Amino acid sequence: MQSTSGSSYGESFADVYDRWYGEISDATATAAFLAKRCGAGPVLELGVGTGRLVPALLAQGCAVIGIDASEAMLTRCRANQANRNAHLVQADLAALPLRPGVGVGAAVCAFNTLFNLPTKEAQANLFQAVGQALEPAGALVVEAITGADLVDGPRSSVGVSRMDRTELVLSATLLDAEDQTIQGQHVQITEAGIRMRPWLLRWTTPPQLDEMAEAAGLVLTERYADWDGAVFDEESTSHVSVYQLAKS
Ligand SMILES: C[S@@+](CC[C@H](N)C(=O)[O-])C[C@H]1O[C@@H](n2cnc3c(N)ncnc32)[C@H](O)[C@@H]1O
Repeated sequence: MQSTSGSSYGESFADVYDRWYGEISDATATAAFLAKRCGAGPVLELGVGTGRLVPALLAQGCAVIGIDASEAMLTRCRANQANRNAHLVQADLAALPLRPGVGVGAAVCAFNTLFNLPTKEAQANLFQAVGQALEPAGALVVEAITGADLVDGPRSSVGVSRMDRTELVLSATLLDAEDQTIQGQHVQITEAGIRMRPWLLRWTTPPQLDEMAEAAGLVLTERYADWDGAVFDEESTSHVSVYQLAKS
């Protein structure tokens, strides 16, 4: 079921994204964090989706460029008047159309979006492309799971993800610890029928991300457990990491 199409996640989830994930994290805290790190350059949101973070970024005074491969996601993003001042581009994160030296202030991959790229090579290419597009004091910011709790966890799981009087969503996963991938299906059951919503994550551990960054001429400058700056330690299951151009 390995997905290679950049738009497959969006096609799976666009119509339910805001309802299911609209409150997944604190958009205001995320935007405040990014506004402090983008200097005079724009925030480039990689995988902008329905624009969950965009109004908060605009409210911080940031110029916003949002990239997404999914037309279904971008259609919803455009339809929200609160996003009208963002510049939206349809493109694949695996082949970012960024001119070297274009002067991005902060590029952000929020909510595991980097891990929607299904191979470590594709993720490393994103680091390379962003590294060449950052302004000198710019930053690539990655919010992601660490994967630490996955390696020794179950190889498969089935559980109830959501349930109310009209909808049951079952979540099934298959984990491959060697490939560092999780295939998932959200199986949505309503009176209208059953809808399968497949997804795939290729997780990369924080030390592996740091290596990718180094290969792209970037260096880790900050790492927290969340957007509020909580301390990151070996118990943390997710992280917010900031990479900047290494001083030559
Ligand atoms: C988990 S959602 C995150 C959306 C938004 N950034 C947020 O925080 O709510 C991931 C987004 O990345 C997009 N995406 C996934 N793989 C992509 C790819 N290869 N190229 C471009 N966009 C991609 C999906 O369409 C989706 O909108």
